[in-house]
Amino acid sequence: EQINKGKYEHYMQKEIHEQAESLTTTMRGRLIRGGSCKAKSVLLGGLKDHLKTIRRSRRIVFVGCGTSYNAALAARPILEELSGIPVTMEIASDLLDRQGPIYREDTAIFVSQSGETADTFQALEYALENGALCVGITNTVGSGIARNTHCGVHINAGCEIGVASTKAYTSQIVVMTMLALAIGGDSINGQARREAIIDGLFDLPNKVKEVLKLDLEMKELAKLLVSEQSLLAFGRGYNYATALEGALKVKEVALMHSEGMLAGEMKHGPLALVDENLPIFVIATRDACFSKQQSVIQQLHARKGRLIVMCGKGDAQSVCVGGSCRVIEVPLVEDCLQPVINIIPLQLLAYHLTVLRGYNVDQPRNLAKSVTTP
Ligand code: AGP
Repeated sequence: EQINKGKYEHYMQKEIHEQAESLTTTMRGRLIRGGSCKAKSVLLGGLKDHLKTIRRSRRIVFVGCGTSYNAALAARPILEELSGIPVTMEIASDLLDRQGPIYREDTAIFVSQSGETADTFQALEYALENGALCVGITNTVGSGIARNTHCGVHINAGCEIGVASTKAYTSQIVVMTMLALAIGGDSINGQARREAIIDGLFDLPNKVKEVLKLDLEMKELAKLLVSEQSLLAFGRGYNYATALEGALKVKEVALMHSEGMLAGEMKHGPLALVDENLPIFVIATRDACFSKQQSVIQQLHARKGRLIVMCGKGDAQSVCVGGSCRVIEVPLVEDCLQPVINIIPLQLLAYHLTVLRGYNVDQPRNLAKSVTTP
């Protein structure tokens, strides 16, 4: 452990708080500001010789496990929007169990912080055998996945020591957003959208600093929730991944049962769990799904649900119509970048819950940082 914790008590805490810096490093040299006659753009050196092939793919398949899978899920909508190519999601072990179809015309993108996860690596071998173009997105230069893919991008988040992945998650989303920008980069249509996202990326570290100020508020919330058995998180669109990843963080470090769910599925079963006691997080920051999340909140109020709503600054009144709820207000950014901001209060909550419950923050029981056996 050559990297020390500095002023922090745990690596997870340090890694959560250094995300403005890690994201800056992730983006360094990759965003082009443009000029009077040149459009803003993205440069990913490791991909430039393969972009034409990727653009011609019949399908893009994301493959990963755990947090890396969730990061890909967060980036899926913007990749679909900017590339126009169908994007499918594969949990590496499930792809292998099913021996799911992978074609020569596919681009398969392997997302892994360590670059050494056995399931993801085996899925890579499987995709190579099937002739797909294989792209690696890892944090570890020289890792098995980095070496064996045809091309790729390093996320450059810096060494992550806490078993719970935090800064790698936000850097992965940013890299996959830049990948979407690079793939969509030669169409005139969508230039304004791409430039708005690039502006949002430039400003993202400042917004991350702002959302990190919620640390004390999340500690107070953790005190309220410390003895709970279980919690739920509902998200949709860009923030379905936020619900899954927030729940994964709470589960793996605070050892509290938690489930992230697609809000659109609420009426198809989970609604039966709602009562005055079970804490339910609803992610309702502004994007194309906002009004649907408002209606989810109303339905949960009608069942006397115990709600904790994450919304944009100033939106508390708009989201908590029809009942009382606790609100976490976060800075708003471009919709596809919002998952980077929204996960941070949930990372902080998981961290504080773990400390209050007296569990090992950096080495949760039964878990390893890198799962190198299938
Ligand atoms: C994240 O907090 C977990 N420790 C775990 O889900 C992890 O993301 C997963 O094992 C995949 O690891 P990788 O990114 O190194 O492939």
